[in-house]
Amino acid sequence: MATLEQLIPIKPRPSEDWDVERIRKDFPVLRQTVNGKPLVYLDNAASSQVPTMVIERGAQYIEQEHSNIHRGVHYLSMKATTSYEGAREKVKRFINARESKECIFVRGATEGINLVMYGYGRKFIGAGDEIIISAMEHHANIVPWQMLCEEKNAKLRVIPMNDAGELLMDEYDSLLNERTKLVAVAHVSNALGTINPVKEIIERAHKYGVPVLIDGAQWAPHMRIDVQDLDCDFYAFSGHKMFAPTGSGVVYGKAALLEKMNPFMGGGDMIKSVTFEKTIYADLPNKFEAGTPAIASQIGLGAAIDYLTIIGREKAAAYEHELLHYATERISAIEGVRIIGTAREKLSVLSFVIDDIHPHDIGTILDQEGIAIRAGHHCAQPVMKRFNVPATARASFAFYNTREEVDVLARTVERVIEIFG
Ligand code: ALA
Repeated sequence: MATLEQLIPIKPRPSEDWDVERIRKDFPVLRQTVNGKPLVYLDNAASSQVPTMVIERGAQYIEQEHSNIHRGVHYLSMKATTSYEGAREKVKRFINARESKECIFVRGATEGINLVMYGYGRKFIGAGDEIIISAMEHHANIVPWQMLCEEKNAKLRVIPMNDAGELLMDEYDSLLNERTKLVAVAHVSNALGTINPVKEIIERAHKYGVPVLIDGAQWAPHMRIDVQDLDCDFYAFSGHKMFAPTGSGVVYGKAALLEKMNPFMGGGDMIKSVTFEKTIYADLPNKFEAGTPAIASQIGLGAAIDYLTIIGREKAAAYEHELLHYATERISAIEGVRIIGTAREKLSVLSFVIDDIHPHDIGTILDQEGIAIRAGHHCAQPVMKRFNVPATARASFAFYNTREEVDVLARTVERVIEIFG
């Protein structure tokens, strides 16, 4: 078994100034009991919880501002438009985009990736071209590219990974060539927790003039995003994994690329003029936002960004890092447990298996004790195949989780082993 230093070699910074009990009070859902036990919510990589500030902002919109955006000259429509576009401004600052029009609102990272596949891929990728993804992608960053390859007779190439779950960068170098038309990789693996060297990946692709899409769904809730510093061409993330409601999310694209792409969907609000002969599309960002969007959810995403700013992202990240270290220490010490994903650089995800016990059984017993984890393939079946497991049990952490919750998890995992003895 890997030593703790191999599992998490970077010594966590101290987090004495993180008042987790105070932070927990911001999340009403955490106050409940499940099966008579206090809820221990460790499924944050699937969906995180929503703080009161975000709930109240959504309720305020519904109670006092609800109307359609961009369409009316009346008071409520203008108010809703201001709130919605205000949320876009917050996203722009949050990811350090050059302009807010580069931030397209989508339902989540999956929709964002599909938008790029339809808008960019279908226009600029053809027969014999190649798309590079990595061996640790979520299905959302595999299937759209397979669909495109099938349609265009293009080829999907995959950067392999080592047994720790780290990408083999030399192999990446050997995949890049003049046929490569796009690179699409996860910033952080949802199944393994690996942080990928995306800046390096982007730099190397750009040497060939190849644009890069980053799936930031698992990074955005935890760490600062700076799309200008990364120099990524596209960056997608979901609101519901970063303390906002479902139906919110963003795909960032460099304006020059978005301008020359095809729209994703046709309909209202994405046009300048329509006749039966010809439609002139609207300018960015509206060109990519056909139909009435998830106004309340995106305003909620803006409020979630405010919340993260208020609590202090750096402090939250330091605390989470320490918690992952502690959880890794506790869980890996249990005999019979094997951690899947032991990369040097990891973030907030702890996947594990126990000999001869199916992860679904682990998940079910943990649920009886009020502990929510995800058990399954995590929408990353190729990762399961790579590690030769049918599924894993995955605990994923947020800044409102505690060391005591990790202790409850560890004790209950021990109990699972006793039961299946
Ligand atoms: N992508 C989400 C997860 O990893 C649903 O659980």
